[in-house]
Amino acid sequence: MQNKNARESENAGEELKVAIEARGLTKQYGEFTAVNGLNLKVFDGEFFGLLGPNGAGKTTTVKMLTGLTKPTKGEALIMDANIMERPLDVKRVIGVVPEVSNIYVEMTAWENLLFAAELYDVSRGEAIERAKMLLEVFGLYERRNDKAANFSKGMRRRLAIAMALIHSPKVLFLDEPTSGLDVQSTRNIREVVRRLNRDGVTVFMTTHFIDEADNLCDRVGIINRGQLAALDTPERLKQMIGGKLSVEISLQPIPSLEELKEVSSDVTKTGDKFIVYTESPSTTLSELVKLANVKGWRIISVRTLTPSLEDVFVKLTGLTAVDVERLELIRPSGKGRSRE
Ligand SMILES: Nc1ncnc2c1ncn2[C@@H]1O[C@H](COP(=O)(O)OP(=O)(O)O)[C@@H](O)[C@H]1O
Ligand SMILES: [Mg+2]
Repeated sequence: MQNKNARESENAGEELKVAIEARGLTKQYGEFTAVNGLNLKVFDGEFFGLLGPNGAGKTTTVKMLTGLTKPTKGEALIMDANIMERPLDVKRVIGVVPEVSNIYVEMTAWENLLFAAELYDVSRGEAIERAKMLLEVFGLYERRNDKAANFSKGMRRRLAIAMALIHSPKVLFLDEPTSGLDVQSTRNIREVVRRLNRDGVTVFMTTHFIDEADNLCDRVGIINRGQLAALDTPERLKQMIGGKLSVEISLQPIPSLEELKEVSSDVTKTGDKFIVYTESPSTTLSELVKLANVKGWRIISVRTLTPSLEDVFVKLTGLTAVDVERLELIRPSGKGRSRE
């Protein structure tokens, strides 16, 4: 339960161990700035999410944090080691699951894992032990001698994560790990990553799925056009944009909007429900109950609505809710540029 400890000591004002740090990270492609002066710290044991629309600069950020791309300006540190100065030390402690698959489809799952082990200087004996264990954990042991070409997308993604873990890294980077996967595989991978984090692995994950960031991450950074627009826990991000508290109520028989306005002027009707906007949901709730008693209405359902991470995302990125919906539907084809 490292995350919880991390939180508690944060509250106590103690020094936390920094696992990942970006200091003014900037990447320019010619005149175009893909990532602009990014500063952030991810603490040991944390599950950190970098959330942003397509083209925001997520992959470029991961590449700079893992030493795959040289920043134009600024620096990246892993466990206090500067990536550019100590690339080998850094390589030993990080695992990377790239956006574009790094699996060799002509090789079997087993061969892919042993190949990854060689890249990370894992001894043969240890590699065999780890490969067996990882294949079992990822539900691929039975298929270990099958070529990856015959694997489903979800299986390939699991194999890619297993390969990134062959040298037992303390920090794992995942670039859009569930993008393009079906519901079952997505759930499966989220569970696997959650478990890894619970076992103490620091996770840095990028995503354009708002609910994924909301449900998995201890803290979320929202990136837009290469710049960090906000960074906090999902709940604090929601509080930050404030205001939009409301009570949703469904009544029988269905009253008119005018009748509901006795409680508040700020009320809308959606379907068979009413949404009453309020600063104080508890006060509004008791007024609604009183009104229902007086009028003889039956309360079918009632709940308090708080701002969602989507509201925050929309506000900070300037995207409309329709844009957000559209982005959720975008599924990169997942075809590897070079290998798949
Ligand atoms: N090698 C490159 N050359 C030129 N532009 C690039 C290159 N890589 C990425 N970009 C641009 O940088 C921006 C950020 O890209 P990327 O980091 O891949 O975004 P994300 O992963 O958030 O979708 C995009 O506009 C993209 O087109
Ligand atoms: Mg990307």
